[in-house]
Amino acid sequence: MPPQWARNKKILLGVSGGIAAYKTPELVRAWLRQGCEVEIILTDMGASLVSPLALATLIKRRVWRDKDLKSDEMGWTIPHISLSAWADAFVAAPCTANVLRMAAVGDSSTLLGAAMLACEAPQIFFPAMNAHMWAHPATKTNAATVAAHGHRVIDPDSGPLACGCEGKGRLPSAEAILDETWYSLRADKDYAGAKVLVTAGPTREYIDPVRYISNPSSGKMGYAIASEARYRGADVTLVSGPVNLRVPSGVRFIAAETACEMHDICMSAAADADVIIKTAAVGDYRAQQFSPQKIKRGDAARISIELEQNPDIALEIGRGKRPSQILAGFAAETQNIRENAMSKIERKNLDLVVANDLTAPDAGFASDSNSVEIFFAQKYGMTPRTFSGSKWEVASKILDSIAVILPGQ
Ligand SMILES: Cc1cc2nc3c(=O)[nH]c(=O)nc-3n(C[C@H](O)[C@H](O)[C@H](O)COP(=O)(O)O)c2cc1C
Repeated sequence: MPPQWARNKKILLGVSGGIAAYKTPELVRAWLRQGCEVEIILTDMGASLVSPLALATLIKRRVWRDKDLKSDEMGWTIPHISLSAWADAFVAAPCTANVLRMAAVGDSSTLLGAAMLACEAPQIFFPAMNAHMWAHPATKTNAATVAAHGHRVIDPDSGPLACGCEGKGRLPSAEAILDETWYSLRADKDYAGAKVLVTAGPTREYIDPVRYISNPSSGKMGYAIASEARYRGADVTLVSGPVNLRVPSGVRFIAAETACEMHDICMSAAADADVIIKTAAVGDYRAQQFSPQKIKRGDAARISIELEQNPDIALEIGRGKRPSQILAGFAAETQNIRENAMSKIERKNLDLVVANDLTAPDAGFASDSNSVEIFFAQKYGMTPRTFSGSKWEVASKILDSIAVILPGQ
């Protein structure tokens, strides 16, 4: 669930005659699940590839067709004008090479073409086609022209295509299309120009090739922060331990498994970051002796594993950080929350700590919601802030809090 500001938006969806039109019912459902309203303009060729009745049933409205541009059934309303004035965002998905051309030259001979010209809301195009069609200079020129008009043209994904060839031309997933829509809809880019490094998820400390010590961190909090920072204009790098989450669109992603791997990645990625947000639940200890062979059950009733301490990533970044860098740590606590948070700020030279009370209901690991208290370094003279809600909402509040102390904001 994205943050409050992204819900209940009005999406005007242009569906044209690409084979990926068959995926649009899933895309429409994804928006409906977020509380959005959807109006659809379906081209005649699009209607050969996805059923207008299926789409109309999902959105519980009529689906607009090419012929409606000049229909006299509509009375005084002019569909291309009223639909474009209604929309918070226009999305062309899938967008054929033909619709991209129409948008580039301002061809208003169909309802979709006229609506694209009339619409003042953010417009996002998701071209999807055969890889050679996408690579053709005519298509590339049209894409560049549409971008020069101030719209966003999102590169297709690479992979196997319906035409049988392999290459760039696939429609991105519904989740990625939603991500890009939220990015366009978030007008306030208060993190524009800021480089934000986010760590997320657990680490795994291997004992032998098939066993490890880990923790139940789901990565949800860090992924929500990375997404939200990107929507707000940041250049985001996400360093993540193993989790079952989709990598948000537009985010640079680096996978890490062990605490030592995460340490090495973070030490180099932190150098040019303006903001470092450490939500990852990094293991404090690893097995001193890694067994290259699987440890057998054997006869011993008890065996011991000697543990040695992992590097403290926050401490090392804190020691070497520039005064203008903001370093935010997370603290999962079960007691003495304020004392522990303030001492962590002092010891590790953090700018703020987001403290989780693990004993609170619906908070902490794996939960979809969180309840946090944010403590700031004394130099900021700021009183602690308490927030609870979905991890998306909390992510938004954490970024609001960091924006207050971010130099140049
Ligand atoms: C089965 C089939 C699949 C097609 N898939 C694509 C496609 O993925 N992308 C594309 O740009 N054109 C594709 N085309 C060609 C377009 O449908 C054609 O250019 C049409 O004129 C587009 O009309 P529209 O832009 O008004 O929907 C396909 C055609 C057929 C017959």
